[in-house]
Amino acid sequence: MHPSRAERFPFLPAAPPLTIVDAIGNHLITDDGRRILDGAGGAVVNNIGYGRPEIAEAMTKALPGYVVPLFATEARVSLIERLVDRWLPPGLTRAMFVGGGSESVDTAMRIVRQYHLAKGNPDKWRVVGRAISYHGATLASLAVANHDRRRAPFGPMLLDLPKVDPLDADQAIKTIESEDPATIGGLIMEPVIGASGAAIVPPEDYWPKLRRFCCEHDILLIADEVMTGVGRTGKKFGVDHWGVTPDLLVGSKGLAGGYAAIGGVFATDAVVAPLAGGNVMYFTFSGNDLACVIADRTLEILEDEDLVARAATQGSRLRAALETRLADHPNVSEVRGLGLLLGVELVGDGETGASFGGKLTPLVVEEALARDCWIYPAGSGGVPDGLLFGPGFTITDEEIDRLADITLESIDAALARVRSR
Ligand SMILES: Cc1ncc(COP(=O)(O)O)c(C=O)c1O
Repeated sequence: MHPSRAERFPFLPAAPPLTIVDAIGNHLITDDGRRILDGAGGAVVNNIGYGRPEIAEAMTKALPGYVVPLFATEARVSLIERLVDRWLPPGLTRAMFVGGGSESVDTAMRIVRQYHLAKGNPDKWRVVGRAISYHGATLASLAVANHDRRRAPFGPMLLDLPKVDPLDADQAIKTIESEDPATIGGLIMEPVIGASGAAIVPPEDYWPKLRRFCCEHDILLIADEVMTGVGRTGKKFGVDHWGVTPDLLVGSKGLAGGYAAIGGVFATDAVVAPLAGGNVMYFTFSGNDLACVIADRTLEILEDEDLVARAATQGSRLRAALETRLADHPNVSEVRGLGLLLGVELVGDGETGASFGGKLTPLVVEEALARDCWIYPAGSGGVPDGLLFGPGFTITDEEIDRLADITLESIDAALARVRSR
């Protein structure tokens, strides 16, 4: 693409970014012929690999135009059937589709309010989040999360919602008790804390203890599986690692493999029963037929090629490859995560370990890109610098080794730059 055309792309004045003209397997192809190894599946979205002809073929089956979200279509119903019958944790029987992750979180927060209103509890509306979390870019999803850098400019516009300990269930429960559970309608949690924490995995007792506590206080437990869902962690959904069924589960990202924009809101019968006869507001493009067709085909490909199991095995390989190169690195505190959602936490130099305060991560990402590899920047608050890995489940052993090699080289190159400043 001619540079003068690429310059029109950035919304805010900035140098034009890379121009991508094609994508195949786990690589993005630039207009000047570079092959960028995608170590993050874009934004932890790509799971079945790029350039799938089956998806192109499936697209032709979508209805030829817009259908208001109120009406059933073959694509919408097929997707609900596949998700409820084969994918979702038992008990999640109701499904509606939206346009993406933030919309799914917003919708779940509205359902919490509607549920308690319908049960005659108008004061039980606050939704609790965690001290390290990201749930989206709408004002409600920003408010319920705690990604400090992303929230910073919007402080006065955000509801002040309680935040609980992300790793210690007893502490989390104490905080909710001190906030008065009678005013708490919901609790939202990522099974593995992604963008804000670089793949933090809570301990074994975390989800079960909070599940029990929420049941005791009629607090709706929302699993935010936007990043962890549809096989990413090596199981169908992240909560499957803890054997817990939430009251509401939201998903997006990999649901249509990145070939279409879609999010889902899933609920138990007990959540929707009090709302019967009412309605849950939809967005104009909720349940877009093309997106539903593509999501259904994506899930079918994941099933046919046993790709969830592959996310587990390739996840172990990638983790081992990263650990081999980084475990003893003085600026790496941990390699962590589940399946193919892995993170590397970066820490400061010297005895004090003084943090780079978020300044190291973008340099590492830049260095990786210069070496034809895309790694996702992560971190916020108590985890200022981190890297997130979430490649397609089709990633090969050779690609894994290259990704790990480039990660180490990029960290060292970025450290050299940050120290010379
Ligand atoms: C856990 C989680 N929830 C919600 C979102 C928001 O999704 P979207 O960007 O599709 O609105 C994200 C995005 O990264 C996410 O990681």
